[in-house]
Amino acid sequence: MPDSEDNVVPDGYASNLFDLTGRTAVVTGGGSGLGAAIAIGYAQVGVKVALLDVNVEGMKATQSSISSQGGVAEIFECDVTSKSALEQTSEKILKKFSSVDILVNSAGAAFRCPAEDFPEDKLDFILNLNLKGTYLAGQVFGNIMLKQGKGNIINIASIGGFNAYPLASAYNASKGGVVQLTRSFALEWGTRGVRVNGIGPTLMDSPLTKKGAATSSVTADFIKSRMLRDRLGLPRELIGAAIFLASDASELVNGHTIMCDDGYLIA
Ligand SMILES: NC(=O)c1ccc[n+]([C@@H]2O[C@H](COP(=O)([O-])OP(=O)(O)OC[C@H]3O[C@@H](n4cnc5c(N)ncnc54)[C@H](O)[C@@H]3O)[C@@H](O)[C@H]2O)c1
Repeated sequence: MPDSEDNVVPDGYASNLFDLTGRTAVVTGGGSGLGAAIAIGYAQVGVKVALLDVNVEGMKATQSSISSQGGVAEIFECDVTSKSALEQTSEKILKKFSSVDILVNSAGAAFRCPAEDFPEDKLDFILNLNLKGTYLAGQVFGNIMLKQGKGNIINIASIGGFNAYPLASAYNASKGGVVQLTRSFALEWGTRGVRVNGIGPTLMDSPLTKKGAATSSVTADFIKSRMLRDRLGLPRELIGAAIFLASDASELVNGHTIMCDDGYLIA
């Protein structure tokens, strides 16, 4: 039996654990694929969403889905690889929403090429966007959360951040970096109310995968042959993890990347 008040589970405690009503989320890459699905999912549970992307048409489509379902979303055109652009955008977001409770870093890209021939400009592009962009957005919005004394950051990593697959050396390195960045930010900010976690998806049915599959099927075939079920993940299948990590239900989870990989990494 519990021997102190802290060890009691108060009546109704579990019913509000996942409640995100009225919170504000910034979703980078919210104009497409996984970011768009997570943004729509958040809006469905009462989160006000700031979409942040270079893809204005994509953000308009996400915004339109959210508004047609009765949710709230605003569009902010911004390049996550520029700290000054992120700072200016964060000021606009704060004017609109007054707080930033959740940041989802989903802006990212892939380029497939044998490691021995990987072009330097593509190496810079992938590391700059996937790793530096995640770092900078985390730093800029993390500072706002530190001032607030609370906030949740969720970085979209990948199975490639843990296991290598072919023709993706820069991508895998960038996502390994995101996994370690997640731990590092969590370690420095965990005592100040800001939790930092990640989601590690398997191969997903998104525009990114379709673009990559058009240039090479080697990577997709390698991953698919190791997947437990014969289907790609759906962007909406990440919404549950995104809600969990943003909510009080994950209070003790910090610095971890939760795999949404249909078991890909277990064997
Ligand atoms: N699709 C998959 O199979 C898969 C698997 C694991 C992880 N991921 C990761 O999930 C994230 C989202 O992937 P997706 O499949 O939704 O890709 P996507 O191409 O559908 O969407 C990526 C979005 O990022 C935006 N973006 C690109 N550069 C930007 C910049 N400089 N500033 C702001 N926004 C920028 C794009 O405009 C686009 O809207 C990426 O980080 C990706 O690495 C994807």
